[in-house]
Amino acid sequence: MTTDHVLIFDTTLRDGEQSPGATMTHSEKLEIAEMLDEMGVDIIEAGFPIASEGDFKAVSEIAKNSQNAVICGLSRANFKDIDRCFEAVKHSKRPRIHTFIGTSPLHRAIPNLTMDEMADRIHDTVSHARNLCDNVQWSPMDATRTEWDYLCRVVEIAIKAGASTINIPDTVGYTAPVESADLIRRLIATVPGADDVVFATHCHNDLGMATANSLAAVEGGARQIECTINGLGERAGNTALEEVVMAMKTRSDIMPFHTGIDTTKIMAISRRVSSVSGFVVQPNKAIVGKNAFAHESGIHQDGMLKNRENFEIMRPEDIGLSGTSLPLGKHSGRAALRAKLKELGIDLADNQLNDVFVRFKDLADRKKEVFDDDLLALVSAEASDEQSDRLSVKFLRVICGTEAPQSADLTMVVDGVETQVTAHGDGPVDATFNAVKQVFPHAARLQLYQVHAVTEGTDAQATVSVRLEEDGNIATGQSADTDTVVASAKAYVNALNRLLVKRERSTTGENLKMVSYKDA
Ligand code: KIV
Ligand code: ZN
Repeated sequence: MTTDHVLIFDTTLRDGEQSPGATMTHSEKLEIAEMLDEMGVDIIEAGFPIASEGDFKAVSEIAKNSQNAVICGLSRANFKDIDRCFEAVKHSKRPRIHTFIGTSPLHRAIPNLTMDEMADRIHDTVSHARNLCDNVQWSPMDATRTEWDYLCRVVEIAIKAGASTINIPDTVGYTAPVESADLIRRLIATVPGADDVVFATHCHNDLGMATANSLAAVEGGARQIECTINGLGERAGNTALEEVVMAMKTRSDIMPFHTGIDTTKIMAISRRVSSVSGFVVQPNKAIVGKNAFAHESGIHQDGMLKNRENFEIMRPEDIGLSGTSLPLGKHSGRAALRAKLKELGIDLADNQLNDVFVRFKDLADRKKEVFDDDLLALVSAEASDEQSDRLSVKFLRVICGTEAPQSADLTMVVDGVETQVTAHGDGPVDATFNAVKQVFPHAARLQLYQVHAVTEGTDAQATVSVRLEEDGNIATGQSADTDTVVASAKAYVNALNRLLVKRERSTTGENLKMVSYKDA
């Protein structure tokens, strides 16, 4: 590998999935891991194996399935975490243990360790990990707020104990590009043994500088960027994979680095992560936003027609967006549907295609033209409904009028038992949600209710996102339908199903805090 190669470490399934409300199901995690592997991600951080039985199973299975990528699991700085992590990643052809501890003054206070005690802990845990696995990554959490001398000291200890990747996290998104480059450059120049390891950068986006900080770190000598699809992640998120990869590709004149990413797969994985996480991509998001390649103003359109380069620095094809796209209609057959889905980066097994085809025909009957975005919404809705869910919507009819209350007749299936109710509310959605609560009483609080028209026109499908919170657990559900109220009911029920999975995890004591080291 030449030194201008930058490794891409994707943590969508770990740091990304940690963001409140972004829970993914087991099969969704496997699907995303497969897409990451296929697009050429070098290292996939598949989860935090000690966090829950579900995380452990997901990491183990991803480790078994992955073809090319190194599969990495996260562990805190204690033997129990590290052992559990190795148990999960050992199935991979190329396993990696990633272990971390917070080294800044604020983070040192959490486990209440002195500087010397923490240094010993780092030596012991990295050595332990290295005895299990040849490939060990170590991170001083909150590195950018750690005292310089202490940071050099602990990085040196980790290298001597056998870590081959040293990750420097900007955990709270505090650093700025000049500092980011300088920190890595100085560490490489100062710490003995630094030339023999790969330095990584892991930036959070609290001040909107994650992409700039990651690229600056590469200028400073880092050769691994940690990032997530769509910038998913805690608080304001992590560095967005698509942004750093396309920045290095588009501006290779001033950033002569390359990655192994097949950029034509970016759009498909971005859409899939958005739909499984329930985190809608903002329209003006760099690279993958709906408007990123749209040229609406007259001047821009005129300029584009004369020469694309007037307003386009990247080609849409480079990220997997096809140029013009003809809509399907009610006469389109299965083969046309399969071809179109393939074009959108969706490869379905025959039985899945059959299910989607039934939905497609139903939609095409109600809507003259079925656009790409309609199909994407349809596939996501199919995936949301098909999980092994405890709750599902069977029938819904709402009666609306100019005068409240509106009423909803709802039939739902809960654990295989069908129940029919009528409920009232202030508007059709309120009546519907009240009906769901009547069938399945719960204390979850509605945090977000959002409706997006998938395409234009009054026959457009609506994509509805619902976020629920119960005892600190947050789950987001999504659904799409030409009937906004039906989409709302299904999204609400989808969020409830996801919340039930979380509820189960917390009652089995599997929710753990990142900063607890007591069980060492
Ligand atoms: O942000 C952070 O510091 C992390 C570490 C666990 C690497 O995610
Ligand atoms: Zn992080």
